[in-house]
Amino acid sequence: MKVLIVGSGGREHAIAASVAKSTKVDKIYCAPGNAGIGQIAECVPIGAMEFDRIVDFAKEKEIDLTIVGMDDPLVGGLVDELEAAGMRVFGPRKNAAILEGSKAFSKDLMKKYHIPTAAYENFDDAESALAYLENAKMPVVLKADGLALGKGVLICQTLEEAKEGVRTIMEDKKFGEAGNRMVVEEFMTGREVSVLSFVDGKTIKIMSSAQDHKRALDGDQGLNTGGMGTFSPSPFYTEEVDTFCRKYIYQATVDAMAEEGRPFKGVIFFGLMLTQDGPRVLEYNARFGDPEAQVVLPRMKNDMIDVVEACIDGTLDQIDLQFEDNAAVCVVLASEGYPVSYDKGLPIKGLEHFENKEGYYCFHAGTKQTEQGIVTNGGRVLGVTAKGANLKEARANAYKAAEWVTFDNKYMRNDIGKAIDEA
Ligand code: AMP
Ligand code: GLY
Repeated sequence: MKVLIVGSGGREHAIAASVAKSTKVDKIYCAPGNAGIGQIAECVPIGAMEFDRIVDFAKEKEIDLTIVGMDDPLVGGLVDELEAAGMRVFGPRKNAAILEGSKAFSKDLMKKYHIPTAAYENFDDAESALAYLENAKMPVVLKADGLALGKGVLICQTLEEAKEGVRTIMEDKKFGEAGNRMVVEEFMTGREVSVLSFVDGKTIKIMSSAQDHKRALDGDQGLNTGGMGTFSPSPFYTEEVDTFCRKYIYQATVDAMAEEGRPFKGVIFFGLMLTQDGPRVLEYNARFGDPEAQVVLPRMKNDMIDVVEACIDGTLDQIDLQFEDNAAVCVVLASEGYPVSYDKGLPIKGLEHFENKEGYYCFHAGTKQTEQGIVTNGGRVLGVTAKGANLKEARANAYKAAEWVTFDNKYMRNDIGKAIDEA
C-alpha cells in the first residue's frame, strides 16, 4: 500500500520509521518531510497547511492511507477535506481536534464530565480576566485558548505578573488569534507524565508512558521549548496511577467526545500531572507527542498499519497493543539559542554512525538535504534515541550516541532522564 505522512518533524520521522517496518507498505510519501525522512520516504514539497495540494496529491498518487502528524492541519480540518475526497485518513476530524485546538473547550468538557483537572475560569475579554485575578490565589496559570506552539502558557507568581500576562495574551496578542480567549487556571505541582493512546471513536488503547523535558536548560531552567528530550516508560507512572487514569480519565474522555457528537479517532495525548491529590489532566493533544513519539513508537511491537487501520475502521477492541519490556531515551540536539534565535544551514557530520545500529535512532527534526550534504534547518535539529534493557542503560546509550553527531552550535541538555535516579 501507499502511505502519505503529513508533517516535517522528529515525530513524523518516528511515524515514518514505524510505517516503514510494516510488510503491508510499498511506498511512503511525506509532505513536506525533512532530510532524515527523505531516506525512507519520498518527500514532496507541499506544506502541511496546503490542504488543496495535499488532497490533489493523494488523489493523483492513489494514496491508500494518509497519516496526519501535526496539530495545525488537524485543528484546521485536513482530515475532513481528505475524507470528503474519498480518502482513508488517520487523525481526528476538525470537530474532534478541538480537544487540542481550544483549551477553553477542553476545560469545559472536563468540567461537564467530571474528569479531574485544575480549577479554572474562561475569559473572552481582558477586563473580566483582570477583575477575576484581583481575588485569585497566586501563583496562577494563564493559557491562550488556541494553538501557540506550546508557548501560550504563562505561570505567574504575583498579581502584577498575572495582570501583565493578561495584557500580553489578550491585548498585545503575543500568541496571535490564540489569545482571543483565555483560561485562568489553578497552579498545580507534581511530576508530569505524557500518556499517548490510540482511539477509534469508542475504544481507547494506552501506549507506554513517557516524560518530556520542556525547558531549554539543565535542571528545568530557561524558556519553554517544544521538548528537549524524553524517556519511556516513566517510572512514576505506577500501576496505581494507571488504575486511577483508566477509571476516571481515559475512557471518560473518549465517551465525553462521543456524547458531544465529536467522536475522536486518532491519537489522544494526555498531559498529566501527578499531584498529591492524584493524577490531573494538564492538557490534551490530538496527535503523537514530539519528542514522545521518538521513545514510544520504537518500543511498539504491533504493526503500525494494523493499529492505525483499526482506529479508522472502529475495530481497535480487536487489537492487543504491546510494547517491548525495555526503555528508550531521546536526547534532542538543538542549535544554540533555541527557542529564541539560532543559525541555520550548518553542515551536520557523523550521521552515518547510526546506519545498521540496532536499537539506535537518529530522528531528524530541523534538517535539510543540500548539494553539500545535510545541514541544520531549525532549532530542534535531531532527536538521538537509544533503547536499553532499562532506563539507565537507555540513557547511557543515548548520550553515547549523541556524541556521534557534530555540527557548529550543537546544544543539548545533559540531564535528560536524570529524574529516574529518584524513582
Ligand atoms: P500545557 O501546554 O497546557 O501542557 O502547559 C505547558 C506547561 O505548563 C505544562 O507542561 C506544565 O509544565 C505547565 N502547566 C500547565 N498548566 C499548569 C498548571 N495548572 N499548574 C502548573 N503547571 C502547569
Ligand atoms: N512534547 C510535547 C508535545 O508534543 O506537545
